[in-house]
Amino acid sequence: MDKLKIIGQRALHGTVQASGAKNAALPLMAAALLTAEPVLLHNTPQLMDVRTLSKLLRSLGAQVEQQGDALRIDAAAVDHYEASYDLVKTMRASVLVLGPLLARFGQARVSLPGGCAIGARPVDQHIKGLQALGADIVVEHGYIVARVATPSGRLRGAHITTDMVTVTGTENLMMAAALAEGETLIDNAAREPEVVDLACLLRRMGAQIRGEGTSQIRITGVPRLRGATHRIIPDRIEVGTFLCAALATRGDVTVQGADPAHQDALLDKLREAGAQITTGDDWIRLRADALPAGRPRAVSVRTTEYPGFATDMQAQFMAVNCIADGAARITETIFENRFMHVQELVRLGAQIDIDGHTCVVRGVPQLSGANVMATDLRASAGLVVAALAAEGQTLIDRIYHLDRGYDAMEVKLRALGADIERIKTSPGA
Ligand code: EPZ
Repeated sequence: MDKLKIIGQRALHGTVQASGAKNAALPLMAAALLTAEPVLLHNTPQLMDVRTLSKLLRSLGAQVEQQGDALRIDAAAVDHYEASYDLVKTMRASVLVLGPLLARFGQARVSLPGGCAIGARPVDQHIKGLQALGADIVVEHGYIVARVATPSGRLRGAHITTDMVTVTGTENLMMAAALAEGETLIDNAAREPEVVDLACLLRRMGAQIRGEGTSQIRITGVPRLRGATHRIIPDRIEVGTFLCAALATRGDVTVQGADPAHQDALLDKLREAGAQITTGDDWIRLRADALPAGRPRAVSVRTTEYPGFATDMQAQFMAVNCIADGAARITETIFENRFMHVQELVRLGAQIDIDGHTCVVRGVPQLSGANVMATDLRASAGLVVAALAAEGQTLIDRIYHLDRGYDAMEVKLRALGADIERIKTSPGA
């Protein structure tokens, strides 16, 4: 289990290139199962989760190969319809193959994702929606077993209202409805940029979709979809993580290849904290080298669905508040257990009180380096931001969490002047 060693208190300076979005790459890769023709995805990030999904697609019979910055997926020869427990347990987003397999092959057997560090995360809305589209679904022996039960053997359009906004739930239903007979209306749909990116790819493949980016998505099913080439959007969470690191270290960083239009809620909060933000079509610059109080101002946030403040940015922004001038409230409304990083931040000298879904963070002038443990993907990113601001050395253990969603994080940070090093440990050490 590799560790990251960080010597903090070095202001980050320079330009860093954003990678493609993990949470767009995964549904777009699954969408390739909807056609027998090749799908080429440019700007695919080099991440553990992308490798896990590639392995899953190959286990179904698809060909998956890297071609430069693009991933080429050819699902012509798919002849297995099972996503095994061993693969799904390492990445719950594997459930995204359920809709496409059912829609194209009329059957799927997908391991039910278990619990997760950040919450129970059931998939009842995915199942409810697919049942409305005409699937017979039972859960047995830990697997979702689904079959199309309509006379034509194709799913049929339906009006689906999800009980809550669900990102992968919306994506699974969009993909299933794309090959269904008739029209589907997804109400209370997720509006995330990654959902919009999926709609763009599906449209290139010949799907009839409108309303993506709003809470009502309408899909008129077609009998067949074709191959396509598509460029994946930038990873707004990776971009946001670099901006928080720049603010926490009082640096001056430009993120190239970003999309400022996807970051309104975060940029507003960073400005409130005292950062100077300038943007262009595909770049964002954050300057924090002349903060009025020499520290960020404390700013309260409440996580909500897009376009609100992203839950995936909560830990990183909490880290900024740990060294801010004043006290702030951080309220998590999406996941019931997403404060696992709090006690680790306290080990670095932060002052944080948890009260149910809200934390009160009292900023301190300085954090001090220590040994800490990553517990989930974004918690580990929050610890990296805090460690970059802390005095002395921090050792972050279990960074396999970070590798799931960040493409060469330490290489990019080192290029911005961070003193950061990956400590490789031999298995079992
Ligand atoms: C997506 O997860 C992202 N993952 C998550 O990013 C992100 O945190 C989340 O959306 C919210 O923005 C991917 O896109 C691969 P949800 P998802 O379904 O789709 C409840 C990261 O760090 N719910 O929108 O699984 C659920 O428990 C990851 O990159 C049900 O109850 O999240 C949660 O409380 C972490 N039943 C809420 O809805 C369902 O059937 C929102 O979850 C579905 C969801």
